[in-house]
Amino acid sequence: MKYNFDEIIERRGTNSFKWDSLELLKEWGITDHFNKNTISLFTADMDIAVAPAIEAAMHKTVDNRIYGYSFPSQDYYDSIINWFKRKHDWDIKKEEIIYSPGTVFALGIAIRAYSKEGDGVIIQRPVYAPFTGQIEGHNRVVVNNQMLLDEEGNYSINLKEFEELAKKDENKMFILCNPHNPSGRIFSNEELKIMAEICAKNNVVIIADEIHGDLIRKDSIFTPIVKTTDKTDHIVTCTAINKTFNVAGLHASNIVIQNKELRDKFQKTLGFAMPTPFTINAVIAAYNECDEWLDEINTYFDGTIDWLMNFLKEKMPKVKFVRPEGTYIFWMDFRAYNISAADIKKRIYVDANVVLESGSMFDPEKGDGFERVCLSSPRPLIKEAFERIVKAFEDIN
Ligand SMILES: Cc1ncc(COP(=O)(O)O)c(C=O)c1O
Repeated sequence: MKYNFDEIIERRGTNSFKWDSLELLKEWGITDHFNKNTISLFTADMDIAVAPAIEAAMHKTVDNRIYGYSFPSQDYYDSIINWFKRKHDWDIKKEEIIYSPGTVFALGIAIRAYSKEGDGVIIQRPVYAPFTGQIEGHNRVVVNNQMLLDEEGNYSINLKEFEELAKKDENKMFILCNPHNPSGRIFSNEELKIMAEICAKNNVVIIADEIHGDLIRKDSIFTPIVKTTDKTDHIVTCTAINKTFNVAGLHASNIVIQNKELRDKFQKTLGFAMPTPFTINAVIAAYNECDEWLDEINTYFDGTIDWLMNFLKEKMPKVKFVRPEGTYIFWMDFRAYNISAADIKKRIYVDANVVLESGSMFDPEKGDGFERVCLSSPRPLIKEAFERIVKAFEDIN
């Protein structure tokens, strides 16, 4: 490997949400146990240095010494257009791209643009918690199309129920998460096409959160939903370099909206959002110069996942999991231990002193007994965390 992804970089003391934010962790109900020996594997960013081309782009920006108002140049748009053509055979036009300072931020804008208070927004739990936060925070109603879970731990979409929900007049939007956080599933083209067409028929706007779409596990293929159907007029796709290239702190999301009416509504609600000069240069460097880095980091994550799967099979055979198809997220089912969610949490968060994210964050009704780990840290850290977790379950393993 060309890059040393095993390098441990100290993030404490850098205002890191993952490593410095005990107050927020308490407030959000993630944990109130955090000290200098805690291993934090909860939020989805990498404890791994960015690609050298992005580092160089940041240095170049700093060296200019002026950080005034900046706008996305033709180079910026070209880098996005070329990336999605090269990686996903998706033709995007410049005018279809709207910069947004973050993806969750864009979800809020979309909710305001395409629905009114009291309207329903469909999501599929378990799912990334801020979907719920944005819907409820804007006084819309969460309409849950519960994912189906089989005996082996595979999730699939209840398409029949999905259609029933989409038909209801009060349900105006659907937020799709693909690749799916937390299960790591990549939905099939067939599933995506069916959902796209059900929504088109019932005037439901789809917000496709595809920001994990370049973090794809070996032998898996990701297809943007707009490539699975010719009915795309009701689809808003969220893209970002935030996760892919580990620059979430730069808030670099680009929202692609093909339909002019939807685009105008989004733009009007957003107002005028300008990326920082750091963001602009990071996007250009990431999309133009970091293909090889991304291939390597994906291979590294595959290796970490292989390691963890073998480790759990051997040392914690009661933990159920399915190999993720996308993301570096790993979803674990601890229910076979037959202990409470609180006991699972105490063993992991307090006894092992490792912070994960509990299932109830993703699914308040059916999430108990599940835990999500982000495998986006150097492998030695992941290994240490799981060695500690095994010890904390020693008496019941
Ligand atoms: C599915 C999904 N959407 C959005 C986000 C956050 O994206 P952003 O930082 O661009 O708001 C995350 C972060 O974990 C995520 O997993």
